[in-house]
Amino acid sequence: MKNYGEIKNLPFKSLHGISDKTIDIHWGKLYQGYVKKWQEIQDKLKIVDLSQANATFSELRELKVEQTFTANAVLLHEAYFDILGGQGQPAGEIIEAIKKDYGSFEEWAVHFKALGMASRGWVILAYDFNEGILRNYIADAHNLYGIWGAAPIVVLDMYEHAYFIDFGSDKKSYIETYFQNLNWESIEKKFNKVAGRN
Ligand SMILES: [Fe+2]
Repeated sequence: MKNYGEIKNLPFKSLHGISDKTIDIHWGKLYQGYVKKWQEIQDKLKIVDLSQANATFSELRELKVEQTFTANAVLLHEAYFDILGGQGQPAGEIIEAIKKDYGSFEEWAVHFKALGMASRGWVILAYDFNEGILRNYIADAHNLYGIWGAAPIVVLDMYEHAYFIDFGSDKKSYIETYFQNLNWESIEKKFNKVAGRN
């Protein structure tokens, strides 16, 4: 069961090519900050004045908007860190599923990497419960362009905080390094858990 208000452990000690400093800031500060904000929003929702509800501006509206921003920030960051710390060797049923929906693993990877250059926030290979397929998506912010009924499987953080210390503006090198750090065993576990719910 998911609890957005609980800090999850980092599943690796270090990465190849992505510095400890980046991870300290990203996981230690930014991700944990989202978890704390989630709790603050839940607490404020318990006492918000419902009689002041207003679609132009109201405390209720603002809390409900930022609730989606914060929940997705926690969810996507955990999904990103969860699948790093490996050797980048693709394996498992997930690869067969990718082939089925994208023709080949390579074609999928080219598409996913291109989306890394096109996104202002996230790239997400999601399992769509409605169609029973895998599809790549982008999200320019945590709560922008998500679709209902799809679960993130492979998640790439393209916010500058994820790469700028180590790669400057060289997004391509960051994306290649990310692929080299992917843990396909973790991805497989996530895929089996999610696809098995159908
Ligand atoms: Fe991030």
